[in-house]
Amino acid sequence: MTWEELEAQCEACQNCPLGATRTKLVFGTGNREADLMFVGEAPGEKEDLSGIPFVGAAGKLFDRYLEAVDIRREDVYIANILKCRPPKNRDPQPAEEDACIGFLREQVKLIRPKMIVCLGRISAMRLIKPDFKITKEHGVWFNKGGFEMCAVYHPSALLRDPHKKEDMLVDMKAIKAKLEALS
Ligand code: URA
Repeated sequence: MTWEELEAQCEACQNCPLGATRTKLVFGTGNREADLMFVGEAPGEKEDLSGIPFVGAAGKLFDRYLEAVDIRREDVYIANILKCRPPKNRDPQPAEEDACIGFLREQVKLIRPKMIVCLGRISAMRLIKPDFKITKEHGVWFNKGGFEMCAVYHPSALLRDPHKKEDMLVDMKAIKAKLEALS
């Protein structure tokens, strides 16, 4: 499958009810040859309006962490488990994830990143393991299907609980170090 085919399929998707309520599809952005890919949960309001992942308050905070560890946003690829916004930003439902996850798989196949970092618990439970415990296992590396994978706190969790920010910086520094070691 080509990027054009994949994006067209995603754009036309009505496999779950969110296709009908979205403003814009939030397909994913960044370097399609990235070594490092970040995967969040689902678009929020700002993302739904712009079609770009992580541009709202959480996204702005995430940008600061990228900057802090000297990773350029345009060098990585950023996507979500769900490509359409759930109403009122509720958690994605399993059926919605099932309907959407194939698009993310195809993105991963096309990019072939070395590392995949889950932003938050929902993404980690889907991509790393169903019983993932973010408070205990953030920053822990897993090798799955040839990819180095880990999860960090979702930036929204950092907005709610600033005490987690120290851990986030430690994890982001380790991600940067691994990226340098692998490239
Ligand atoms: N939260 C997410 O998980 N993804 C986004 O794109 C924005 C906020």
